[in-house]
Amino acid sequence: MSSNLLLEIKGLSHGYQAQPLLFNELHFSLEAGHQIALTGESGTGKSTLLNLMAGLDTPQRGEVVLMNRSWSSMQTNERLACRRKTLGFIFQAFHLVGHLTALQNVMVPLLLAGQSFKAARLTAQDWLSRLGLEERINGRPDELSGGQQQRVCIARALAHSPKLVLADEPTGNLDPTTAQSSLNLLCQQCRQTGAALVMVTHSHQAAQQLDAHYELAQGRLHPMPKPGLPAGSL
Ligand SMILES: Nc1ncnc2c1ncn2[C@@H]1O[C@H](COP(=O)(O)OP(=O)(O)OP(=O)(O)O)[C@@H](O)[C@H]1O
Ligand SMILES: [Mg+2]
Repeated sequence: MSSNLLLEIKGLSHGYQAQPLLFNELHFSLEAGHQIALTGESGTGKSTLLNLMAGLDTPQRGEVVLMNRSWSSMQTNERLACRRKTLGFIFQAFHLVGHLTALQNVMVPLLLAGQSFKAARLTAQDWLSRLGLEERINGRPDELSGGQQQRVCIARALAHSPKLVLADEPTGNLDPTTAQSSLNLLCQQCRQTGAALVMVTHSHQAAQQLDAHYELAQGRLHPMPKPGLPAGSL
């Protein structure tokens, strides 16, 4: 395996009872620091694939290997530790903890990763400032705008320097201007920290801004052409 490979999906087959398989012998690999977008019709399995990448679900066949270790080879506590250290999540519905402030929400993964309270507070403050939220660190989610909540999510996903950020329709709830600025911030911050990014989106315009764009259909990831290039030129 190339030393630059971060994630490998090997012969993955998976589905849910009474439904045709969502994936059948899927192979895919992602290099460190790369940013890819996944599009596809509703129900094709994009969120399921993110869950499998994160080791939150176990494939019926095949394996997902993150940094040379298969999720299926790890015990539950090892999976949890690996997820906390290596992964950052951004969910469409934000999933911020409602009774915690922006600062406290960003501190949670840092504390779980073993940082002291003081260090976690400083790191979280720094990230929220980078994302232009220094005035709002004590706001609770219901006191923040959609775009501000999204920026808290980006800070929470990136503050512990994950190798891989998984984002499920991260700008789906935002108006076009805020969606574009959140996308810019997300890509820029991932580039600065060297994190790879897998972003599910329904926006082809957003997808085209990443290093590569794949469409999930019939259980396969189809490379989509860059604007102006013929299909298969990725
Ligand atoms: N826990 C589950 N049990 C049974 N079926 C499920 C489960 N989770 C997802 N599915 C089914 O698997 C299929 C893929 O779901 P998934 O959420 O991955 O789709 P998606 O591509 O993310 O769709 P969307 O664009 O609407 O978010 C759907 O038909 C869904 O109903
Ligand atoms: Mg989904």
